[in-house]
Amino acid sequence: MSEGSPAALRGGMVGLGMIFDETYRPFFERAHREGVWSREVGETAVSLAAVATRTGSRARDYLAAARGRIAPFQNFSGADAVDRLLESGVDFVCVATPDDRHYEAAKKALQAGKHVLIEKPSVLRLDQLDELTALARERQALAKVVYHKLLDPDHKKLRTLVADGVLRHVNNGYCSLLEPKSISGGQFAEWIRGRNPGTYVAVHYIKLIDFTFGGRLKTVAATGQRGLVGPADGPTWDSVQLRLIYEYEDGREAAFDIHTSWVTPDNFPGYVEQEVQFRFDNGVWNGHSRKRGVELTVEGRTPNELKTTINTHYNGQFLEPWGERSQRGYGVEVIERFVREVAWVECGGPPGERGERVRAMSRLTYNDLSADRQVVAAVQALEAILAEAASGRPDGIVRVDLDQGRMELQHAGSGASQPLI
Ligand SMILES: NC(=O)c1ccc[n+]([C@@H]2O[C@H](COP(=O)([O-])OP(=O)(O)OC[C@H]3O[C@@H](n4cnc5c(N)ncnc54)[C@H](O)[C@@H]3O)[C@@H](O)[C@H]2O)c1
Repeated sequence: MSEGSPAALRGGMVGLGMIFDETYRPFFERAHREGVWSREVGETAVSLAAVATRTGSRARDYLAAARGRIAPFQNFSGADAVDRLLESGVDFVCVATPDDRHYEAAKKALQAGKHVLIEKPSVLRLDQLDELTALARERQALAKVVYHKLLDPDHKKLRTLVADGVLRHVNNGYCSLLEPKSISGGQFAEWIRGRNPGTYVAVHYIKLIDFTFGGRLKTVAATGQRGLVGPADGPTWDSVQLRLIYEYEDGREAAFDIHTSWVTPDNFPGYVEQEVQFRFDNGVWNGHSRKRGVELTVEGRTPNELKTTINTHYNGQFLEPWGERSQRGYGVEVIERFVREVAWVECGGPPGERGERVRAMSRLTYNDLSADRQVVAAVQALEAILAEAASGRPDGIVRVDLDQGRMELQHAGSGASQPLI
């Protein structure tokens, strides 16, 4: 970097699907126009330098459609796409592939010493998480995960009330997130076999509960339904009901039920329907992350092409009062926040203090992989319970004691148990 010129960060993107289009694309396009600015670093020029996908076709289409909104980038596809992306000289890598393909790409990127941001769920097994965390520490790189719902202003308010002791001791609660059939039948049809909507979206709420209320995860139970996305006796799930039990320092417990589906009718006005309720010793928090007051009807266009109840806070396209077109919301903000963390590590002070800056950013528990252990444990437990059920042994329960390094799947009836870690 020469004196007076802005710091520069080159981003790499692995996976260019729906979530890229909703959050990463608007982030990179705005960064292309305006850079990223902070007081400590000044201006950082941030580019999307390279992408890696299976076929390269979405990247080609995007390059053609986005001329002027983004600088040309390298487009790698095929089996060695991630290796070539890493060799192309990026500074950070965002992994937005299907959830059972995060680990490989993230591991390669960390081995190459790149900062990594992974879409939720970070990985599906604790041993994978611990390996990535150790690699990040060894290579002095950031390894982070995106849970954009933690940046939702409503969830920030909930956490503020809990942190300030206004809402005291959570006792129980429920969360539900319902996705339309078009997700399981169209958007994700290529990789959906053997997958379930719990891992895909309940994880948002597992993180919200874990991050907001703290405590120690003790028990995971789950059940679900099959027969629409795949055969009724197969490994692919239509809907999943997950229960988590946490214990807090005073010995008291709380139970949380999280219901998810990706087979809700496409004309369901909610489109993506999200609701939470948490009950405390002295209060109740009722949240509907989608219904925040807007209900739109346009003849012939809602609820399919345009949504009836819109979550403009997550991500929306706007005509700003000053005439500019923009796309913004907490889904985009969370990506920008990660890039600021990278910029601060690389350009926020003397090179000799870089290690301290990496450690400071790694202590941020909202996104650091090292703080994702209970969430990944819950995901691994859920996956194990559903796999057992699909093999004809339903109603398993997982007992978790991460302090003691134990996680066991207990089978209903037989009393037999199987270690998961
Ligand atoms: N934060 C959110 O609310 C949110 C919403 C949707 C998806 N996601 C997460 O984002 C991730 C991707 O979801 P999506 O909806 O964008 O999926 P998608 O199916 O729309 O896109 C997947 C992309 O990954 C690419 N890909 C698949 N396998 C690959 C491989 N081995 N190497 C390189 N590229 C590969 C595909 O070519 C495609 O570009 C998932 O982990 C999902 O959980 C998060």
